[in-house]
Amino acid sequence: MDSDERLLHFKGFNFERSTVDIDILENLEDFDIRDDDVFIITYPKSGTIWTQQILSLIYFETHRKQTENVETADLVPSLEYNIRKVDFTKRPSPRVFCSHLPYYLVPNGLKNKKAKIVYIYRNPKDVITSYFHFSNFVAVLEGCENMDMFIHKFLDGKVAGSLWFDHVKGWYEHRHKFNILFVSYEEMKKDLKSAVQKLCNFLGKELSDDDVDAVVRQATFKNMKSDSRANLSNILKKEVGTKSDGHFMRKGTIGDWKNHFTVAQSERFDMIFQRKMKDIPLKFIWDINEE
Ligand code: A3P
Repeated sequence: MDSDERLLHFKGFNFERSTVDIDILENLEDFDIRDDDVFIITYPKSGTIWTQQILSLIYFETHRKQTENVETADLVPSLEYNIRKVDFTKRPSPRVFCSHLPYYLVPNGLKNKKAKIVYIYRNPKDVITSYFHFSNFVAVLEGCENMDMFIHKFLDGKVAGSLWFDHVKGWYEHRHKFNILFVSYEEMKKDLKSAVQKLCNFLGKELSDDDVDAVVRQATFKNMKSDSRANLSNILKKEVGTKSDGHFMRKGTIGDWKNHFTVAQSERFDMIFQRKMKDIPLKFIWDINEE
């Protein structure tokens, strides 16, 4: 099957066809936003399930204290990849969603600036590396023979999520229209506790020190990898399907791109990055040892 069949091109943006909820897409603009809704927005492979886990631990005491056995993805569902066909209008507040939507497709109600958006971004060489492996792991995506082919595909925007540059730049350049906080994957990785506190401040959630520690503990890579509620293993196995051995929680680090990019690929990418991102002052961290 070629990539065009697996991708649904809708209003200028590529979705993964088999898991996206068409009814939601067609009514996105009017999707009713509540003032206390929270959205995690990401380009794919930038730390979505990690942030779903962090926010569900912040918001839902039963999750934090492990007194109920509910999947993180059910507590913080995807708006457009609503694979369980949940009726979101019946969900109690506060509702926490995740989404890969570009700024111009999100529900209009988010522009009331009351509902909050946490935008997570990651250095794009690690996004590419993660996405390359993910494409060869999940059944619903087109696999790719080698990194070079995948880099081309990514730079052409021929993947679910379309062009990374458009996503990040679009959200950054239109940030004034929304109540939005930008957080990088790398700052979460380097100092998870500070990132959790920053998120709590933005979300207006006052957690005790013990509760912050409980959030951090349950959101580390190691603990999420062994927690089937948090690591998507059930959903991947039963609902999405996989085509090779692997794990959604693959490496969870900064700079794995160095093990996969050639020097020439890296230099070419840097040139494009510098040209396209020159007006965007977001800080990108490419190496685990970088400050
Ligand atoms: P890698 O493939 O580089 O390991 P998304 O949820 O947006 O699809 O992002 C998936 C990436 O986030 C994967 O990256 C995954 O390992 C990483 N990730 C998930 N939870 C993490 C955690 N607790 N700490 C660090 N990385 C995490």
